[in-house]
Amino acid sequence: MDYFNYTNQQLLVEGVPVEDIVSEFGTPAYIYSKATLERHWHAFDKAFGDHPHLICFAVKSNSNIAILNLMAKLGSGFDIVSQGELERVLAAGGDPKKIVFSGVAKSYAEIERALEVGIRCFNVESIPELERINQVAEKLGKIAPISLRVNPDVDAKTHPYISTGLKENKFGVSVNQAREVYQLAKQLPHIQIVGMDCHIGSQLTELQPFLDATDRLLVLMEQLQEDGITLHHLDLGGGLGVPYHTEQPPHPSEYVSALLDKFKDYPQLEIILEPGRAITANAGILVTKVEYLKQSEDRNFAIVDTGMNDMIRPALYDAYMQIIEVNRSLVREENTYDVVGPICETSDFLGKQRQLAIAQGDLIAVRSAGAYGSTMSSTYNSRPQAMEILVDGNQIHLIKARAEFSDLWRLERLLPES
Ligand code: LLP
Repeated sequence: MDYFNYTNQQLLVEGVPVEDIVSEFGTPAYIYSKATLERHWHAFDKAFGDHPHLICFAVKSNSNIAILNLMAKLGSGFDIVSQGELERVLAAGGDPKKIVFSGVAKSYAEIERALEVGIRCFNVESIPELERINQVAEKLGKIAPISLRVNPDVDAKTHPYISTGLKENKFGVSVNQAREVYQLAKQLPHIQIVGMDCHIGSQLTELQPFLDATDRLLVLMEQLQEDGITLHHLDLGGGLGVPYHTEQPPHPSEYVSALLDKFKDYPQLEIILEPGRAITANAGILVTKVEYLKQSEDRNFAIVDTGMNDMIRPALYDAYMQIIEVNRSLVREENTYDVVGPICETSDFLGKQRQLAIAQGDLIAVRSAGAYGSTMSSTYNSRPQAMEILVDGNQIHLIKARAEFSDLWRLERLLPES
């Protein structure tokens, strides 16, 4: 459920018409709903009841500091994958004790900074990384809390580019090797084993792969117990899908209750989840203006003022994103359009063969754009990125201004005069 609805055929975000926001700020713009973000976060958190748990919001899905700050105020933890994300969380007032650090390529500097601020746990993805963390912790005179990211070899049944839990993927340590790696970790003097982790993929629309992965982790956890290693938490990663089109993914409460069933015999074992998309996707839209309607021999194009620069998901994964008119009270002929952007690439489309009742100058909105939208955007073709706005009830907050053109080359330098 979200707070983007039509009233008198006008698209509203919570209590504010999208048209009002655009007349103040222009397009293209990401517009988020605070109440939707909160609702989605609580859907995970509340479902756990009394079972010890921590929701670590996946920062990569939407890393605007206003949104991170909102998450921090809800009591959320954070799943990060770089020092950049760490610094964002800290700048947004996030609690370092609730940060888990994932990612296959943690550098010396990143590990050092994470140890200095005292993060909750490193999700370790390889033996060399484990050794490096031990080495950095020794230098700083600290003990590093770790969990091992186990690759459970489970098919997440999602797009191959966002599937991560198969043995051919680069992530984690294979489930067959993990016991040995835990033995090694146990012997490293500056490492403290606190948990086990996995993340099998994103946009999962079925529960079974999550449950299969959980079973594999629990078996491994029992084996570790025999080896004298007791875990404090299991981190099952993110990955719960959202309805972009016709998908009907399980509700967070269904997912969590199926998990709790598996954890019945482990009432003390903390469960960490790292949801990103399920919290942010349907809490955001990308609003764009129709610049031109163009008819070619073969099809009609709606050419809009944003494209793969701000929203790369259709170009990269052939992802379907719903596209809707902002003002449905305007009298327009309905037609089938390919909605395309200004970028000089054939893959620059937001949607193909969509029924829309639009004219030049109208506004349309790409739904479910709150996750992996702004965070994956670029300035390709030297287009400043879309601004970001957060609506809270009747209030409109600009949370990312549109860049000045000079910002595009701010870090660039001319050659010396010769
Ligand atoms: N934890 C880890 C270790 C991850 O790698 C990811 C996502 C998450 C949590 C959050 O997953 P979520 O709950 O959002 O599914 N750009 C792609 C998605 C890539 C996801 C990468 N990892 C897309 O736009 O579909």
